Amino acid sequence: MSDPTAAPTPPRRVRVHHLRAAKERGERITMLTAYDAPTAQIFDEVGTDVLLVGDSLGDNFYGHPTTIPVTVEDMIHHTRAVTGAVRRALVVADLPFGSYEASPQQAHATAVRMLKEAGAHAVKFEGGQRVVEHVRLLTGAGIPVMGHLGFTPQSENVLGGKRVQGRGEGAAERLSADALALQEAGAFAIVLEMVPAPIAAQVTEILSVPTIGIGAGPQCDGQVLVWPDMAGLSDWSPRFAKRYGRLREALTDATRAYLEDVRSGGFPGEEHSFAE
Ligand code: KIV
Repeated sequence: MSDPTAAPTPPRRVRVHHLRAAKERGERITMLTAYDAPTAQIFDEVGTDVLLVGDSLGDNFYGHPTTIPVTVEDMIHHTRAVTGAVRRALVVADLPFGSYEASPQQAHATAVRMLKEAGAHAVKFEGGQRVVEHVRLLTGAGIPVMGHLGFTPQSENVLGGKRVQGRGEGAAERLSADALALQEAGAFAIVLEMVPAPIAAQVTEILSVPTIGIGAGPQCDGQVLVWPDMAGLSDWSPRFAKRYGRLREALTDATRAYLEDVRSGGFPGEEHSFAE
């Protein structure tokens, strides 16, 4: 019989091999972005498998037009907040634009900082065949890597804006070749962003590592959303995102009520004041 006075057993940490096992069992993997401690704690407590400290914090929290201005220091700062708050989820940190592309050694140096200084369990970066040697070096050095294919926001100036990828002559074959190359180099999972559903399904089928879709249809092994889109905090969200909450309205209502209370003298009340 269990001892009712004993401290509760901490939940088992999600590890990269659990994600592959989930794919084998046909269980969907859940992933959300997280950028700060309180939201990360909520997402972790309800059982989200993977929390991605995405460089989407640039456009979602810093008000940048794209992810491009996000720095390594920004990522370390936010990743530390997330890793300090979670007990179960696997925390993946994005390598931001300019911090890994130049060479496998540059990627290694940045990834080491994410693990040592910020406590990340894994890193993610964008690209296919061009980053295969980066993936190989990192995984060989004990750093798990998640790949990211399809629409890769850091390359939006080359891709001509936020556009669905994998369409047109040879594009699906190139995507499959990129995915297989990342898997062969050791990537433990691959994000597929804005890829037609049948093509994402095909890529998912040929890989033994899981695919995590965002705007890539229902056949991926898991799904990820940028949390302000998921919770309805953003004033705009992409067509592929579904809103599961109305946080923007809730925050607007709460703020209006507070302003009214302060103006009318309704706050603070006696219960919020110190008598002496
Ligand atoms: O930065 C991010 O949030 C991402 C997701 C869109 C997968 O890379």
